[in-house]
Amino acid sequence: MTEQQPPMTDADFATRYGPAALVTGASSGIGRAFAVELAARGLDLLLVARRADRLRTLAAELEQAHGVAVRVCAADLAEPAAVEQIMAAATGLEIGLLVSNAGFGLKGAHQDIDPARMAAMLQVNCAAPLQLSHRLMPGLLRRGQGGIIITSSVEGLMGIPYSAAYAASKAFTNSLGESLWGELSSAGVDVLALCPGSTDTEAHALQGIDSSTLEGMMSPRDVVLEALANLRNGPVYVAGEQNRAMFDALTGMPRREALLQMADNIRAAQK
Ligand SMILES: NC(=O)c1ccc[n+]([C@@H]2O[C@H](COP(=O)([O-])OP(=O)(O)OC[C@H]3O[C@@H](n4cnc5c(N)ncnc54)[C@H](OP(=O)(O)O)[C@@H]3O)[C@@H](O)[C@H]2O)c1
Repeated sequence: MTEQQPPMTDADFATRYGPAALVTGASSGIGRAFAVELAARGLDLLLVARRADRLRTLAAELEQAHGVAVRVCAADLAEPAAVEQIMAAATGLEIGLLVSNAGFGLKGAHQDIDPARMAAMLQVNCAAPLQLSHRLMPGLLRRGQGGIIITSSVEGLMGIPYSAAYAASKAFTNSLGESLWGELSSAGVDVLALCPGSTDTEAHALQGIDSSTLEGMMSPRDVVLEALANLRNGPVYVAGEQNRAMFDALTGMPRREALLQMADNIRAAQK
């Protein structure tokens, strides 16, 4: 159980994690890449995000390319009622894999962050994976197999100055992933808190960040391929060699030194 497991064949993957997967945040970026790769492995899908037009276009593409059945659910995960809406959309589906991926960040000095956006972020980044995993666990345990992937972030591995609320939300998802891994791995259910570093998605523009300034950018597809290959190697998995090296070094430093150095670097970059 604690040894590193090799990647599976697509057929074995579909048997262990199918017949259907629920993917939140599937309208763009990492979630979209999860949907594409899971359909290519033969899993039926329930795709969730707010932008229904994008979900419908993707569903049609995946049904045609891979012969899988794809449902869509347009839901705003900042609304607590969204979980019930998603569970209603999942009626009749046997969900073997939850990919709780939807999320967003807020960058800047903590006192400048809009409190309403912070509350929405906690609902999307933290409450949604908490509630969705809670709702889907009984089915996974009944089947004695399956998986839960929660897209967290390297920012959850330690405090990050000027990203305080987001980093705290991702520390929550890393802790959630570790706890669920401890509860579920002996029951045959794999849990992975996936920690991407900078990934080439719409997220940076949404936070007002120029993505050309970011180091070690990965494609969403590469992040997802690593996640799927390491789904049995939880609880926490950092995507990308460069990110693993960087965060091993940072988390190995005296914490006060690492935080002050990071805060200085960010302030210098802002000048
Ligand atoms: N990009 C990075 O560098 C990076 C690094 C580490 C971790 N991550 C994490 O990766 C995950 C995916 O982000 P991404 O980089 O792929 O960003 P993205 O391209 O902006 O995608 C975010 C997804 O989440 C959905 N979403 C956001 N708010 C939502 C809401 N209120 N209700 C329902 N869905 C919502 C979006 O769909 P709609 O807008 O259509 O609702 C979209 O599908 C997030 O959890 C993020 O924190 C990203």
